[in-house]
Amino acid sequence: MIYARIAGTGSFLPGEPVSNDDLVARGIDTSDEWIVERTGIRTRHLAARDVTSSDLACEASRRAIAAAGLQPEDIDLVIVATSTPDCIFPSTATLLQSKLGMRNGAAAFDVQAVCTGFVYGLTIAEKFIRSGSHKRALVVGAEVFSRILDWSDRGTCVLFGDGAGAVVLEASDKPGILATALHADGSHHPILCVPGAVASGQVIGDPFLRMDGQAVFKFAVKVLGEVANEVLAESGMEAGAVDWLIPHQANIRIIQATAKRLGVPMEKVIATVDRHGNTSAASIPLALDLAVRDGRIRAGQRIIVEGVGGGFTWGAALLQF
Ligand code: UT7
Repeated sequence: MIYARIAGTGSFLPGEPVSNDDLVARGIDTSDEWIVERTGIRTRHLAARDVTSSDLACEASRRAIAAAGLQPEDIDLVIVATSTPDCIFPSTATLLQSKLGMRNGAAAFDVQAVCTGFVYGLTIAEKFIRSGSHKRALVVGAEVFSRILDWSDRGTCVLFGDGAGAVVLEASDKPGILATALHADGSHHPILCVPGAVASGQVIGDPFLRMDGQAVFKFAVKVLGEVANEVLAESGMEAGAVDWLIPHQANIRIIQATAKRLGVPMEKVIATVDRHGNTSAASIPLALDLAVRDGRIRAGQRIIVEGVGGGFTWGAALLQF
């Protein structure tokens, strides 16, 4: 039996942390108290003007590849989950491949599932590896969400940040990813979207992120509970058998409500949203890498990663680290 196992993790946050008070100092009509109470976010990182998603992806990928004890050319599949690609085409994955100096002809493409993008990418890579067609996949979530924020909309601009997280997934005869579930329901697209497009040399429509926060909140808690239970059922496990829950890092209140629904104590939940805000597709691999590097996550432990985002999309993976 071929499993897909995580062989290394990496992450990258650009520049210095920007605090809630820094946002107030920049003229945003908000407060540290409001942001912390409603979201748990204390700081986020904002990429410099000339830094792109593939730049952030490259730093995170180098760290993940080094952690796996590999070289970039050992990778035969590159998947980048992003909603903030460097350009319309080519894909951010091919630009990343070039920046990593990979000339081995590895397949490379992007996945667009917004904040669930990393779980979608991980699941796709797992299928490639289990089929025997590929041996080592680099799966990255990378975003510069600061580029699509309306900085005059305090209901959204305080929530998001920039960053990247990456894993190397490797074929193994030892258990790795045990169960996955992916879902989408496009009828919910209006509650979280960037509706604009580029056509005929112009931006057509609204190029900024728009969100009905309360509708998103309710939907997120519901489906994060359901999809975690789905992967538990698929692998024949109870929630108590899981060492760590890593939900999408959007809001501490969504994370707490999800954990409560699942009966998982907060001591078993990785929450790093306070440090980097909502980094969309980057949030799960960022949280995973931070917890691997601070020693909380150890070899052999069972982890559920789960995401929800625009589309709406949602999904989860249960894995043995
Ligand atoms: O990847 C998924 C991404 N999306 C999310 O995670 C969002 C999920 N939703 C949420 O996290 C919450 O709905 C928010 C944090 C976005 C908002 O919290 P809320 O408790 O739903 O607040 P609200 O939208 O009902 O607004 C309450 C008040 C309003 O003032 P009034 O009308 O009561 O006077 C807002 O104008 O809070 C005000 N407000 C703010 N005040 C200070 C909204 N944004 C801010 C702000 N600072 N940044």
